[in-house]
Amino acid sequence: MLADHGPPKNNHSLSEHSYTMKSLRLQLRFLLPLVLLLVIAAYVTVPLVDKLTLRWFLRDLDVRSALIAENMTNTIVETPEVPSQRQLQSEFNRAIRDERIFAIGLCNADNKLTNSTAAFPQRLDCTQAREAAAQSPAIVTLPRGDVHVTVVPLTLPNLKDGRLVVLHDLSYIHLRSADTRRYLIMLFVALGCGMALITVLVAHISWRGWVAGTKALLRGEGLLEPFRPPPELQVVATDLREMLREMDEERRSRMHQEDWTPERLRQLLNTDMRGEQVIVVSNREPYIHFKREEGLEVQRPASGLVTAIEPVMRACSGTWIAHGSGSGDRESVDHNDRVMVPPDDPSYTLRRVWLTEEEEQGYYFGFANEGMWPLCHLAHVRPVFRLSDWEHYKAINQRFADAVVKEARTEDPIVLVQDYHFALLPDLLRARLPNATIITFWHIPWPNPESFGVCPWHEEILKGLLGSSILGFHTRQHSRNFLESVDRFLEARIRMEESTVSFANDLTQVNAYPISIHWPSIEESSQWPSVQDCRSDLRRMLGVSEDHLVAVGIDRFDYTKGIIERFHAVDRLLQKHSELKRRFTFVQFAAPTRSSLDEYQLFVQQVHTLTDRINARHGDSSWQPIRLIAEHQNSDEVTRHYRGTDCCVVTSLHDGMNLVAKEFVAARDDGHGTLVLSQFAGAARELNTALIVNPYDVEETADALYRGLTMSRAEQAERMRSLRTMVREDNVYRWAAHMLLDAARLRRAERVSARIVSREARTA
Ligand code: F6P
Repeated sequence: MLADHGPPKNNHSLSEHSYTMKSLRLQLRFLLPLVLLLVIAAYVTVPLVDKLTLRWFLRDLDVRSALIAENMTNTIVETPEVPSQRQLQSEFNRAIRDERIFAIGLCNADNKLTNSTAAFPQRLDCTQAREAAAQSPAIVTLPRGDVHVTVVPLTLPNLKDGRLVVLHDLSYIHLRSADTRRYLIMLFVALGCGMALITVLVAHISWRGWVAGTKALLRGEGLLEPFRPPPELQVVATDLREMLREMDEERRSRMHQEDWTPERLRQLLNTDMRGEQVIVVSNREPYIHFKREEGLEVQRPASGLVTAIEPVMRACSGTWIAHGSGSGDRESVDHNDRVMVPPDDPSYTLRRVWLTEEEEQGYYFGFANEGMWPLCHLAHVRPVFRLSDWEHYKAINQRFADAVVKEARTEDPIVLVQDYHFALLPDLLRARLPNATIITFWHIPWPNPESFGVCPWHEEILKGLLGSSILGFHTRQHSRNFLESVDRFLEARIRMEESTVSFANDLTQVNAYPISIHWPSIEESSQWPSVQDCRSDLRRMLGVSEDHLVAVGIDRFDYTKGIIERFHAVDRLLQKHSELKRRFTFVQFAAPTRSSLDEYQLFVQQVHTLTDRINARHGDSSWQPIRLIAEHQNSDEVTRHYRGTDCCVVTSLHDGMNLVAKEFVAARDDGHGTLVLSQFAGAARELNTALIVNPYDVEETADALYRGLTMSRAEQAERMRSLRTMVREDNVYRWAAHMLLDAARLRRAERVSARIVSREARTA
């Protein structure tokens, strides 16, 4: 079993260093003998080739001399007269025009030099020339350099048994030999370099392969299938499997432990994550400062994301990086754009990032909310994709990446990237902080590959997200859709059983982590006004009697929330059950959102028109069946509405999770109240004892609403008990812990891998 002895801070660069060292050693092992071999080969071969070429050149000179003699004989013999001394001399001079011939001389039968060219050396007589020519090599050293001597018979009409002495200048042969030697040495060097390059490449590839194999094994790839590691890894494979199995079991048992609280999450961060810095990145900030006449006002935005992440940040005390969108945001930060929040109990840092109006228009309203939002929600609103929006989206993702790098105090922080505003951020971060654990959570649904493919930049978005160590969705269906999209559009290795994607040497774990809410403590819930007071307040606000039936919807004013569909259900309810007239009111609280977009303005108009129509149809001067309150409600008000209502209605047409449903359940510590919940909200997977409806089915939704309003107290209590158990246990701390434990497992595997690699490098 491999023990985990506390990691070096910089484990990634350590392992990179180790890879390089190991790789270098491997390469040197091959290269040194190779270089030695080449030197020996050059040492033996060069003189040998030198000798051979000299012999070839000399043989060539002998042949050339014979040819000169033959030529001369033929020329002179063809002349009708006996050759004169002048004619002979001119033949000699003609022959030495060839610059390689140094001199020519003619010896008679008595070994006397009778004719010669000017350069013929005086100290060389015919006898010496014959003796020299008989040697091998036939070379004579003169003061001006070496000459080669050839003596060939020459018979002329007036000369019997003559001998022609041809002296060849050897300097050009020496030059050629030197050239040959140089080329030969160059050939050896080129050969050596080529072989060295191939060796380095082969060694590098096999080392990378080894390292990749080790890492894959450590990450648990192939654990669920018969996996045959390469022979050199078999020794460690068993130990690693054992270690991973133990870690998995431990993680599973910890996940199932009863209560996950802020305190336990803090412990987990300190033990499993060794107190690493936690950085959250989201577009929406948890606290917005607005400038008012009386000073700065702080608001918590209506955002499921903020509802879920804020308590986690309170527990972890990290840094939350978000867009500073409030009119008073700049006034409330320090010179580093930081402010401690929550205002009443500062426990973590909010770091604001600024956008110009044009950037916000392109990145947030344009690409994120006119493109990605309708793309991912099947609510029958067409996505709009503009190149200029995409350019802003890329630039802002880069700006947030820079902010993360600036805020990171270590090389391996845990970065929690939130939502569809930052699809490119994980990969940008991976490039800048390779050791970071990047956990990306996609808060909205992920569509099927056909729908997703309409986005012109679908590949870039997938690649961006695959920079994450862990990529989370609310439901298994959304994770599966993502994996299928990767399968459709990228050349990546997907392991469906293990839910991992290997792409560009990075492994991403894709899982379903159903998000949740902070489960209020007894101290917190004891601060709430009583259910009775809340009921009275709500009815007083509506101007109705204490026994009036009330159902509420609390949403952002968004077309995905099914507000029109639920109003149709109210309309149908009143048609079917006229006895409810003047005895029942539906209150819709709708927080204004993205109001500058046409699609939202149109939707708001439609909802108002429909409200008026239904109210006109069923209401009178003293009673309106639908009350539409298009205003932001703060969290205390929302809690009071949840506690004061008989029934909470969530009819999203498509929703990642929907935390309104869970918040309602958490607020009902009286054990009563009913929940009508859309089957298209992720929450329906868990809250299955709610009244589940298809919001497009008006009859079914109207019937569920009726049932919710008229359900017996006993049935309400039974359903609510099961809902509350579910939300209390699967609270947001469990959600965060689940992802962090998975991340811890990855980090630990990486560290063990770094250690094995460096150990191997040391022993190599
Ligand atoms: O679920 C997506 C999400 O980002 C949630 O955080 C939140 O419910 C909503 O959209 C907030 O929208 P915005 O930040 O655009 O107001």
